[in-house]
Amino acid sequence: MWDFLSTRDLSAASIDNILNLSEEMRCNQVSLSGKYFAANLFFESSTRTKMSFQVAEKKLGMDVLDFQMETSSMAKGESLYDTARTYEAIGADLLVVRHAFDHWYGELAGKLSIPIINAGAGKGEHPTQSMLDLLTIYQEFGSFKHLNVAIAGDIKHSRVAHSNAHALTTMGANVYFAAAPGFEDDSLDFPYVSIDEACGMCDVLMLLRIQHERHAAASYQATSYLADYGLTMERERRMQDHAIILHPAPVNRGVEMDTRLVECARSRIFKQMENGVYARMAIMSILLNEWGVNHENITEKCQ
Ligand code: CP
Repeated sequence: MWDFLSTRDLSAASIDNILNLSEEMRCNQVSLSGKYFAANLFFESSTRTKMSFQVAEKKLGMDVLDFQMETSSMAKGESLYDTARTYEAIGADLLVVRHAFDHWYGELAGKLSIPIINAGAGKGEHPTQSMLDLLTIYQEFGSFKHLNVAIAGDIKHSRVAHSNAHALTTMGANVYFAAAPGFEDDSLDFPYVSIDEACGMCDVLMLLRIQHERHAAASYQATSYLADYGLTMERERRMQDHAIILHPAPVNRGVEMDTRLVECARSRIFKQMENGVYARMAIMSILLNEWGVNHENITEKCQ
C-alpha cells in the first residue's frame, strides 16, 4: 500500500508517472473497474482541493463519503485515528485528509490498510497541489530540466512552497525563493533572490498566498507589501516573454499580485485548478492499483 503524504517520498520516475497519467485523464474518459468509496475528511476550510477531489472521485465512478467535523463524533472528542479507523471499518477504500497540523499523518501512517492522501497539512506539505502545479508547468515547457522556478511570498508558512521545492528539484528545475523579511524558511536550503531578480530571470513565477491565519499577528500592510514584495504591473512587464505565473489560490488580490494580473495572458491560475482534477484522478487511480489493468475503461475524447 502506498500513501501520498509528502513529495519527499516521490522519485522522478513516480512524478513522471503521475504527470503522464494526469494527461491521460485530461484526454480520456476514465472509470475505475471496481466500486470504491472515497472519504474526504477536511478539518480545515477548502474550496479548490475539496471540490476537485470530489469531482475527480465522481469522474472515476467512486462514491464519495462526505464528512463535517461539527456533526461528526469528533465533536464528542473522538480522535483523528479513531475517526479514520471508523471510515476504514465501514468500507472506505481511500482517505483524503486536510488538517491544520503539520504532521497529522504521523498518527495514521502505516496503521490503516487503505491509502491516505494528504490534502494539505498545516505549514508542512500539500503534495497533490504540487502535482497539479508540476502538470501545469509540464504542459507549458515539456520538461523541468534547468527551468528557473521562483517561489515568491510567505515561504515560511507555505505547505505549497515546501512540497514544490522538493518536487521541482527532483525533476531537475532550479528553485529560488523570494520572501519578505520574516517570511523566509531557514530549514530549507534554497537560494534567495529579490522579487525584482526573480521576475527578471524566472521561467515560472510561483506566487504564494500570505497565510495570515497562521501568523501570530498582522505581519504586513497590503499596499506596501505589493509594492515591496509582490507582483506589480511594472514587474510583470520585466518578465521574460515566455514566463508564466502560477498561484495556488485563493489569491489575496492586491497583496501578492496586482488584481489585474490574476487573469493576465501569462497567468495559469485557473488552468492549475482545472489540472487539479486530472492530477487527483491520477493519484487516486495509482493508489487503488487501478492503473495498468484498466485501460479498457478509457474512452478516447481528444487527439
Ligand atoms: N490551493 C488550495 O489548496 O486551495 P483550497 O484551500 O481552496 O483547497
